[in-house]
Amino acid sequence: MSGMGTVSEIKSGPEAGMPPHVKPVVPVEPIIRAESMAFVRFRRADIDAMDRFLRDFGLTPLREAADVRYYRGAGTDPFLVEVERGDVDAFLGFGVNARHADDLVTLSKAMGAAVEPASIPGGGQRVRLVDPVGVTVDVVYGATGVHPLLEAAELGPVNTPFHKNRVNSTVRPPLAPSPIFKLGHIVFQRPNFAVSLEWYMRHLGVIPSDIQVVEDGTAILAFCRFDRGAEPADHHSIAILGGPAPGLLHVSFETFDIDSLGQGHQFLKSKGWTHHWGIGRHNLGSQFFDYWKDPAGDEWEHYADGDVMDNTVETGYHSLARGTLWAWGDDLPDSMRPPFPLKEVDQIHASGGFGEFPLETARQLFKALHIPPRPWLR
Ligand SMILES: [Fe+2]
Repeated sequence: MSGMGTVSEIKSGPEAGMPPHVKPVVPVEPIIRAESMAFVRFRRADIDAMDRFLRDFGLTPLREAADVRYYRGAGTDPFLVEVERGDVDAFLGFGVNARHADDLVTLSKAMGAAVEPASIPGGGQRVRLVDPVGVTVDVVYGATGVHPLLEAAELGPVNTPFHKNRVNSTVRPPLAPSPIFKLGHIVFQRPNFAVSLEWYMRHLGVIPSDIQVVEDGTAILAFCRFDRGAEPADHHSIAILGGPAPGLLHVSFETFDIDSLGQGHQFLKSKGWTHHWGIGRHNLGSQFFDYWKDPAGDEWEHYADGDVMDNTVETGYHSLARGTLWAWGDDLPDSMRPPFPLKEVDQIHASGGFGEFPLETARQLFKALHIPPRPWLR
């Protein structure tokens, strides 16, 4: 399979039908259907270094506290990031907003978890769930929003060859952190992909927007959106990749546009932070993207201009190859590529290096990630 062939396969999309031999994801009757992403929670040994990164990334500290700090964006969410001081760096969990107050009662009954006051900025009530690998998922309802720091009216008009919307006026984006409007999505890696996907479909009601499969048709990467009925939701808010070790792959926040992304990139570079991947445009979800590493090595993405869809769009199935992950931009950084040649997969598995990740799936995943993308990339 050539890289270019793979790209056109993705671009032909779900309407082209499933690739051969796909094993479709089995539908799940959800307990509730969550509304949106709310926040992420981290533990950091060096909370001051993390503070500097988050400000440069575009977040605004809410209040100074010795051991727990909260950061908001420019939108109406009361906060987007919580960082607590601790001995070991860790991703602790995340929060989502429920659609209805009754959803917390429904979850509480189904899971035997209490409805309790949420002692976080914005308040409200929450039910705390724990996903299959121990990540806490706080389902929150009734949080009080905040006044936005920026309004949509500040978006400038764009000139195209056919529509000159900006006349007698220039573009001078400031060298400043990217304005962040919301938490967009979280991406996890899980050895037991199917169990985690089923859990998120059942407990939060997410819909797989697009699923990528390995050679034998086994699903390996799922991009899931919230089910808001006729109201559009982001193409993905939770994404899961099958892989050897459970962990967080990245968290992603929405900024305005390609200028915000580019100037935010320059600003982070000016402050000496570690760039990871981008700027480019994704295929599944279509976002402009730019990835940075925080002081503990976790990946933080700025994105803009992502797809949104209501609940009538069917799940798309696509073959996975390295080049299918983005439409334009540089190849994956070394740290996102398999750190060993394909011929070593069996040996690594035999020595326990992939944990409970199945050998046959490992063979096919790493084969897909070894497929060279565009010929002009290194
Ligand atoms: Fe992302």
